[in-house]
Amino acid sequence: MCGIIGYVGPKKVVPVLLDGLKRLEYRGYDSAGVAFLQQGELQIYRSVGKIKELENILWGKTLGGDIGIGHTRWATHGRPSEENAHPHVDCTGDIVLVHNGIIENYVPLKEKLVAEGHRFTSDTDTEVIVHLIEKYLEGDLEEAMRRALSEVSGAYAVAAMWKGDPDRIVGARCSSPLVVGLGEGEFLVASDIPALLAYTRNVLFLEDHEIAVVSREGVMVTTLEGDPVHRAVERIAWSPILVEKGGHKHFMLKEIYEQPRAIRDTMLGRYSLEAGEIYLDGMEAVEEVLPHVQRVVLVACGTSWHAALVAKFLLEEIGRIPVEVDYSSEFRYRDLILGPDTLVLAISQSGETLDTLVALREAKGRDCRVVSIVNVVGSSIARESDGIFYTHAGPEIGVASTKAFTAQLTALYLFALYLGRSRGCLDASRTQELLAALLHLPQLAEETMHSGEAVERLSRLYYQHADFLFLGRGINYPIALEGALKLKEISYIHAEGYPAGEMKHGPIALIDAKMPVVFLAPQDRTYAKILANIQEVKAREGIVIAVGTEGDTELASRVDHCVTIPATSPLLTPILSVIPLQLLAYHIAVRKGCDVDQPRNLAKSVTVE
Ligand code: AGP
Repeated sequence: MCGIIGYVGPKKVVPVLLDGLKRLEYRGYDSAGVAFLQQGELQIYRSVGKIKELENILWGKTLGGDIGIGHTRWATHGRPSEENAHPHVDCTGDIVLVHNGIIENYVPLKEKLVAEGHRFTSDTDTEVIVHLIEKYLEGDLEEAMRRALSEVSGAYAVAAMWKGDPDRIVGARCSSPLVVGLGEGEFLVASDIPALLAYTRNVLFLEDHEIAVVSREGVMVTTLEGDPVHRAVERIAWSPILVEKGGHKHFMLKEIYEQPRAIRDTMLGRYSLEAGEIYLDGMEAVEEVLPHVQRVVLVACGTSWHAALVAKFLLEEIGRIPVEVDYSSEFRYRDLILGPDTLVLAISQSGETLDTLVALREAKGRDCRVVSIVNVVGSSIARESDGIFYTHAGPEIGVASTKAFTAQLTALYLFALYLGRSRGCLDASRTQELLAALLHLPQLAEETMHSGEAVERLSRLYYQHADFLFLGRGINYPIALEGALKLKEISYIHAEGYPAGEMKHGPIALIDAKMPVVFLAPQDRTYAKILANIQEVKAREGIVIAVGTEGDTELASRVDHCVTIPATSPLLTPILSVIPLQLLAYHIAVRKGCDVDQPRNLAKSVTVE
């Protein structure tokens, strides 16, 4: 996710842009920039780091102008650097653009534009848009934008200016949000409402494939085909702080509900359903060794370690390769038997977890190739890896990892397909089947959010219990661990995740009428055994909360509470079954009055051993 803003009106534009970018910093903050017209000339300032760095560059300069655009970046293509920071310009330097989203077909577009003589100065996908506008500009920026976007596929929210048309900003959106602010004689475009509230509460939301032309006279909205759009103006009643959290009380809840987008964005541009192929940029340094790899070792911590446990099932079933999983913090103390035939997969949201970074270095010291699944572009783990798979979950502010986890599982599923294809054990038609199941997931995740109310009611019944058990089998056993970790880390209630089959080897002694037991019970190959385990718990007066498949009346009849998820491939069930557990932990923690976004004793990134 990135943040974009544009302003035209009576005020000095630079302070408006900087203020707006600061309010959008939660959307990304590895680099930032502004562009504005001053005495007919385009002025552009960009910097690596937070908005503060940009402010320092601008400090003391005479900054006139009353029309401009700005951007705060969360890198997806191209590391954080001044060259890759937005705004981007065309060859003439007269057109300038900011973008939030992912352009799926930027590689062929860039090749074609370079062949036509365009000179690129960044590694970003964004830059193809501004050169396409240049290619089609014949005196009308709006028309040039229209034609440029007709060639682009993927997600975008853009704002552009042209020196030859000093009174207008042209914005457009497809899949990435763009909201228009309508003030008194001043108009704005932005990625999200927080950037607008200081100037107006009257907004209109662009929809996909719409263009907005903003000038001092007002706003004109049309479809990409040029048909006029009449959109109702809405009035925002939220407080600014509530707005930054998307109307949610906590970043964690906002991020739970962002998961359908995070899953979708992590897939974008990385597959072809018709060809049954997976395209992963960032794998150039490992693609020739992958067919010869004999085993995979996964290293991670915490929630990312749970993702690694799920990945074991995915890689073994799809990639047909032996897989081991180790805590990063334990990995280095083993007498490791590693060599060039072993691929080490490091998973980390922050890309800065020192235990995982040290494990990666141990692996590289033994001639292993290392691929990392990371959410932060340019982070230490990413920089030291041979292959990189960036999840596109956007910044995760809540300490408890949610959207990054489901984005990791999405990435690991795609990587399993990629590995299977490169090892020749997965044909195109089977890949198409597995891809088709994945493509439905964002919608199924959206449907799973509806369990929020039922889970909130459960939190009222059980938030005062002192102990919870979470049980699952097979690929859902790691989700039992994740559900327990979520509850522990934000509500401070003791919770354990366990393989359900292990209950009879000890933990069943814990069961009594005070013990809520959460079962992962989707209708997969372990279902019958899970029903038997539920029976064992009920026979000892345990309280059973089950996460089951929609329509499973048999399960509902055997448990105290049943929360359902849509049916999907067993390999993808973990991405859905974790959502009710995230919501349960969240609502219990809120009911207990805990600091959900910043739980005691915890840090978002553990950079100590
Ligand atoms: C998860 O909710 C926790 N915040 C923690 O376990 C986290 O997953 C772990 O510290 C690993 O962090 P990383 O993914 O950034 O490496």
